[in-house]
Amino acid sequence: MAARKPFVGGNWKMNLHTAEAHALARSVATSCDGREVDVAIFPAFPYLAEVGTVLQGQPQPGVMLGAQDVYHQSNGAFTGEVSVTMLQDLNVTVVLAGHSERRHVLGESDLLVNAKVRAALKAGLEVILCIGETLEQREAGQTDAVNAAQLCYGLAGVDPAQMSRVTIAYEPVWAIGTGRTATPQDAQDAHKAARGMLGHLFGATIAEATRIQYGGSVKAANAAELFAQPDIDGGLIGGASLKAEEFIGIVEAASNATVKG
Ligand code: 13P
Repeated sequence: MAARKPFVGGNWKMNLHTAEAHALARSVATSCDGREVDVAIFPAFPYLAEVGTVLQGQPQPGVMLGAQDVYHQSNGAFTGEVSVTMLQDLNVTVVLAGHSERRHVLGESDLLVNAKVRAALKAGLEVILCIGETLEQREAGQTDAVNAAQLCYGLAGVDPAQMSRVTIAYEPVWAIGTGRTATPQDAQDAHKAARGMLGHLFGATIAEATRIQYGGSVKAANAAELFAQPDIDGGLIGGASLKAEEFIGIVEAASNATVKG
């Protein structure tokens, strides 16, 4: 069975401008080279080209350029949206879909998330599908049901052969940007249940090979204990990805974690 290489993403969200984005991309690119971890950074749309140039300029480009969102239509009258081929023009190789801020702040539906997942995969991109429950849902005992539903909707119509380009990010909404991290055991339980759902959808082999990142107030100081869990395959990092030292510390923790799968 294929081992799951840890995968760490830095989701910069709506932060940083040209000079800071350039400097941070440079630090990440020079420090994360040659580790046994996949690393991607996700700048805001206006800085994708700038950051892409920095990453491509490395002697051995190893950090992937990611986009925080994508629209599923190929072109046309969709004011404000960005297509898959526009992202590919800028050497983007991985996109986020269904981030909780897009679901809960911008009102994205499961249907739209699924359209984005399918369009990105069809074009050959990698996708990180984000799932996770709100505090209210957790307190009502609905964590696994919410995650299962978001996986079913998000991955509907995805071909099993495309699953090698899909990563899941479990990001409990109540842990995002709050400083309140899920305990390693709570995160592990949710990851295990999500992997079980992937098994129902695509079979045990694909479920075992699919990486599931944890996201929600991950820092260099708590990354190792999260990444030590058997079903946690790296992280999707928000706030701590804006500081080179913190982010590099998290990548280091992932590279020290035992290989799973
Ligand atoms: P924080 O690491 O800031 O909690 O954000 C997590 C996240 O939303 C990554 O996509």
